[in-house]
Amino acid sequence: MRVLSGIQPSGKLHLGNYLGAIRQHIELQHEHPNDALYFIANYHSLTTVRDPELLRQLTRDVALDYLALGLDPTKAMLFRQSDIPEVTELAWILATVTGKGLLERAHSYKDKIARGIAPSMGLMSYPLLMAADILIYRSNLVPVGRDQVQHIEMTQDMAGYFNNTYKCDILVRPEPRLNNAHVVPGIDGQKMSKSYGNTIDLFDAPKPTRKRIMSIKTDSTSVEDPKNPESCNVFALLRLLASKDEITEWEQRYRAGGMGYGDAKKRVAELYEETFGQARDRREKLASDPDSVEDILVEGAKRARTIAREVMHDVRNACGLVIAPELHP
Ligand code: ADP
Ligand code: TRP
Repeated sequence: MRVLSGIQPSGKLHLGNYLGAIRQHIELQHEHPNDALYFIANYHSLTTVRDPELLRQLTRDVALDYLALGLDPTKAMLFRQSDIPEVTELAWILATVTGKGLLERAHSYKDKIARGIAPSMGLMSYPLLMAADILIYRSNLVPVGRDQVQHIEMTQDMAGYFNNTYKCDILVRPEPRLNNAHVVPGIDGQKMSKSYGNTIDLFDAPKPTRKRIMSIKTDSTSVEDPKNPESCNVFALLRLLASKDEITEWEQRYRAGGMGYGDAKKRVAELYEETFGQARDRREKLASDPDSVEDILVEGAKRARTIAREVMHDVRNACGLVIAPELHP
């Protein structure tokens, strides 16, 4: 069972990224040792990041973030997307068997345009490249947040179009895998997202992080009155960070009244520090040793590329593309 996911280097990682995606990536490396692939989707980020030094910086940052958060390079392959140029070739081949209507239906394309991102062909073709990322490794399971599920469904369709067109079963149908943090709220209660300016970032210093947490929006119920945990943004974070017993305790405290939102926020800030404090220290150490981080990425890419090359060999054969072996050792 092969697990694969990608994360775009397009800004600082935040709690929504961690709880919605990264946490399960790290967990799955233990369940599927040597068969988990995680890549830094830098070709994808070209649709939004147009500053080369910034893209290089953000790419390094994602590698540091993942390693600091517990990605173990002896278990999972961590690599840059651009070290596997074959994915762009597969994306083109998928484009030739995919109807344009499928891409026009993508929610994320419509959302991004609505947010003012230029509607380039790259943005429109994004699901083709994402499908290629998944199919080129014959991935079975793709852990993502809910907003990415439509892209996985499109990938399933594209695998079918290719296999039907060329009467083969080379491309494997992947399944999405969601965890319990479908939508993590930001400090204003909307979905936490870089583009809404409402994030709690993973590796900010403790003080500003605490300040952000203390500023989470709550309703005006007074301290004495009972409160509804289900509609509270702070409780939503407690539920994702605390142990089961502690969640039950907070639920009771909310319903009983006599508790202020400030207490719940303070506890979220503590849990945040307990969860990410050590990772912050690890990240600092890693950042001072860029060569070993580079070695990890190169090693990951070598292993991933072996798989990608095998699949591309079969794909080219199936559709009649000839390449000279002496030019492609
Ligand atoms: P952003 O919305 O900040 O730009 P991305 O779109 O880069 O975040 O998301 C990267 C990954 O993190 C995706 O798998 C996405 O589903 C997940 N993710 C992002 N924000 C959230 C959130 N608020 N709740 C749950 N998952 C999220
Ligand atoms: N589109 C994903 C996001 O914005 C990132 C991504 C690119 C991805 N290729 C992928 C995720 C392949 C899973 C599988 O978060």
